[in-house]
Amino acid sequence: MTDRSTAFVSFLSYQDSAAWQRALDSLAPDIHEVDRTATDIWFHFFPLDLFLALEQSDDADTLARKLLLEGEYRLAAQVDTSPRFLYGHRFWAETKQAVLEYANKFDGNEARELANVTHEIAQTAARIVKVDASLLTGITLVALMTLRQTSLAAFSNATDAKAIRAMHTNKQPAEILRERARDEGQGILGFLRTEDKKWTVRYDESRKDRRFTCINSEEIASGAARDHHEDWHALDPRRSEGPIPVQCRAAACGTCWIGVLGGAEKLSPVSRLEATAIKEFGYINTDEERPTIRLACMAQANGAVSIVIPTWNGFFGKYLQTGSPAQMLSTELPGYDFPVASQTTESQTTDTTNIQTGA
Ligand code: FES
Repeated sequence: MTDRSTAFVSFLSYQDSAAWQRALDSLAPDIHEVDRTATDIWFHFFPLDLFLALEQSDDADTLARKLLLEGEYRLAAQVDTSPRFLYGHRFWAETKQAVLEYANKFDGNEARELANVTHEIAQTAARIVKVDASLLTGITLVALMTLRQTSLAAFSNATDAKAIRAMHTNKQPAEILRERARDEGQGILGFLRTEDKKWTVRYDESRKDRRFTCINSEEIASGAARDHHEDWHALDPRRSEGPIPVQCRAAACGTCWIGVLGGAEKLSPVSRLEATAIKEFGYINTDEERPTIRLACMAQANGAVSIVIPTWNGFFGKYLQTGSPAQMLSTELPGYDFPVASQTTESQTTDTTNIQTGA
């Protein structure tokens, strides 16, 4: 590690959650539409505040249990795979290279704006792969946060990108956007149908077989339970049935959260119960009627949608507001009637090869 790259890591560490959010907000118009929502979802999947709480804790394992973290929540274990649902992931290797080159030349000016740094790196990567910089902007900000939550060594040494890139199709952004916006006509007599309308829910846009069907106004999690493409439980113990982990089916455990890549407007609006729950879990803090983060046991499909399934779940929203990790450790666990999460083990790590997850 050079002095310059060390200074760059320090520059990233200097940015707090508000600074990252400002960068995300100011860059949003410059991120190609195909990755605008995906980038936002990724940042919800890997919150800096949760990472900092664990990093600064004297007993991260106990804190993780307190926060009911299950599955693979550590970005360090999924450096190359976490953003695979972004279109820009096909340029991940070049983006990482551009980040590392920037780090090696960093002038040490900590007053730089994160958004400007992202722009510069995205333009460098765009020249290499010969595409518009808007296709690299979201993935570049993701790469910078990945570096922030890991290390230069972990970031540069991870080597999964090539295998993942091979899985991508040759689809153009416009084609992907068309598919996300697609509505299913239900045949020539579709207008007569009510209860028996069926909608496709895709959970890996890079694979044709990664989809299931929801009957009209059925909860996403219920449709997922009929998906038998894999032995889901063997891949991830949280997946008791289907590709989406579920426990309570009542907005009480937070296991079933998803990101909505396309078709958010075709889901039922959040109920008061779901709106309160997703904030308490810590997944998203919004009063939007149809946010990009939902609970699959609550959100009902009224059209075709494309979703992303995160690799972990937890219950940390109100705990992050309590202050220091020491305070969190002394706080009582939330009260609900489901089993307390066991500590994540190697064998429990989510298999990320078959699913459009946050990893
Ligand atoms: S399954 Fe518990 S919140 Fe959805």
